[in-house]
Amino acid sequence: MDIGIDRISFYTSNYFVDLKTLASARSVEADKYYVGIGQEKMGIPPPDEDVVTLGASAAWPLKRDGELDDVELLLFATESGIDQSKAAGIYVHGLLEMSPRCRTVELKQACYSATAGLQLAIGFVARNPGKKALVIASDIARYELGSPGEATQGCGAVAMVVSANPRLVAIDPECGYYTEDVMDFWRPNYRSEALVDGKYSTMVYIHALIESWRQYAALTGRSLAGFDRFCYHIPFTKMAEKAHEKLCRKFNEPLDSERVRILLDESLRYSRITGNCYTGSMYVGLASLLDTAREDLAGKRIGFYSYGSGCVGEFFSGTVQPGYRDFCCAEAHHNLLANRAELTYQQYEDIFNYGVPTDGGEYVFPQYKTGPFRFSGISQHKREYESLME
Ligand code: CAA
Repeated sequence: MDIGIDRISFYTSNYFVDLKTLASARSVEADKYYVGIGQEKMGIPPPDEDVVTLGASAAWPLKRDGELDDVELLLFATESGIDQSKAAGIYVHGLLEMSPRCRTVELKQACYSATAGLQLAIGFVARNPGKKALVIASDIARYELGSPGEATQGCGAVAMVVSANPRLVAIDPECGYYTEDVMDFWRPNYRSEALVDGKYSTMVYIHALIESWRQYAALTGRSLAGFDRFCYHIPFTKMAEKAHEKLCRKFNEPLDSERVRILLDESLRYSRITGNCYTGSMYVGLASLLDTAREDLAGKRIGFYSYGSGCVGEFFSGTVQPGYRDFCCAEAHHNLLANRAELTYQQYEDIFNYGVPTDGGEYVFPQYKTGPFRFSGISQHKREYESLME
């Protein structure tokens, strides 16, 4: 029985900063961002979006289409958690009015945990073939103003239905995975911005890739030439390109820039204009690939590399299913990305500095443009959400 990704829906904030604007404020050349790290825009969440509203908005089109009716497992992956105890997925479960017969848990391991979610969901479906799982990856990537990581900020969420006989991508059983205790990127509980050893993090990303691939190749006998496309974790698009080049060099796979373009380019289109979505970013890459590839990808094998600092890496693979285009949300994704509003530098800084009050008082947040749900305020330390659906 094939098991894998049956549907995928992506959502990001309606606001962005062009990295030319940031470059001008930071007195660096715009090409450092546009060319050097391969990023053009960063998605910025207004004060009334958080990982709950991003995640619920990503899942909403699936709910509307009746795709969540048989879901009995909701796994919410994030590294921008809003509560030390309660799973963010429970708020989403409520906003989407899902069945109470549902296991709901939040997962954390930096940017990797959505892949843990996907693999756990596959195990659940193998045990309960008539049932489905909903995996939501939702994050806000935030670094200090003026830090090297600032230009890689972004936000977004991906909601994936995992089922038997999936209509998008059947996931292969073999995986290579790798854990090592390192401090390349982390966020202590008392901080709202991540700390990062930037150059070191890029080296650990690649080391974990090589080790994960080595295992996967030994298990499957496949070579890098046996893949039609790759989806990498995308902290910034240049990272994915460099990682692929390094992997090919390490394992003596011939490589030219046109081949790298064909293998990666379609998966990088959305991330280039949303910025890092942490747990969601590789899956934003998958949505981008399925939505924008001109070639019919049915029957094509995709290689996936998921990475979460700290660190865990995993290489796995999947095959695109016949008729997949009928089940993509390409038009909705295109409209969302095309209709965002650009922020000035000052608007960006004002939003960045708008902190969620922590004194237990009563607060109503200003209303910005959001999806179907908004984080409307906070009262006695309880987050309040509003559904904008009729
Ligand atoms: N035109 C063209 N290119 C230019 C340029 C210009 N005018 N100016 C600079 N560049 C190039 C540089 O040559 C460099 O290219 P190479 O990497 O090929 O040498 C590139 O632009 C970046 O320049 P710097 O190396 O000077 O950039 P930096 O040190 O200021 O920042 C970074 C780079 C350290 C990766 C920083 O973006 C960062 O800290 N990011 C956050 C951490 C991160 O994303 N790590 C990735 C791995 S960890 C992970 O994947 C988990 C996660 O999601 C965070």
